[in-house]
Amino acid sequence: MKWLKYWFCIIPGLGRTEALARSIAEGVESVEGASAKVKRVDFATVNDFISCDAVAFGSPNYFSYMAGLMKDFFDKSLSIREKVTGKPSAAFTSGGGASDSALLSLERMISSFRLEKAANGVITQGEPSEEKLGVCRRLGETLAKRALERSEAPKD
Ligand SMILES: Cc1cc2nc3c(=O)[nH]c(=O)nc-3n(C[C@H](O)[C@H](O)[C@H](O)COP(=O)(O)O)c2cc1C
Repeated sequence: MKWLKYWFCIIPGLGRTEALARSIAEGVESVEGASAKVKRVDFATVNDFISCDAVAFGSPNYFSYMAGLMKDFFDKSLSIREKVTGKPSAAFTSGGGASDSALLSLERMISSFRLEKAANGVITQGEPSEEKLGVCRRLGETLAKRALERSEAPKD
């Protein structure tokens, strides 16, 4: 069995973004051979970013954007951009109101770092509903399957 490592960036707050991350992790772990790791962004390193097989970035909506800690992580990662090219990824956000712009800010990083967007992002408002947690589980499953496919593809 091949074990893959995943990680998620979450911010300490009311716990809503973390609930989404944990559901994504459940979805990842439902796929045979995949394991997930949820990590707070202030404990994440650029090496985590390089060594994982797929990544989901989540942040609460702070002033219609990702949280500053999250942005700081991307700023620090600029120098290793070439080492993460093509990695399957997805983004998710939790806000008090409409949070399209916060999701967009995360997804812009997916394109800036030339990651592969493996699934549509998830936006939630207030406490995440069971339905949204289910969407997160499916996102995790999709991400894991994509990473497995990529790891099995012949390298040239
Ligand atoms: C500093 C700060 C700024 C925020 N700005 C927004 C905002 O612009 N739009 C919005 O919908 N919610 C905003 N919120 C609300 C949070 O996005 C919302 O409560 C979110 O669900 C918190 O996620 P968490 O439980 O992971 O901390 C803000 C919260 C904080 C603390």
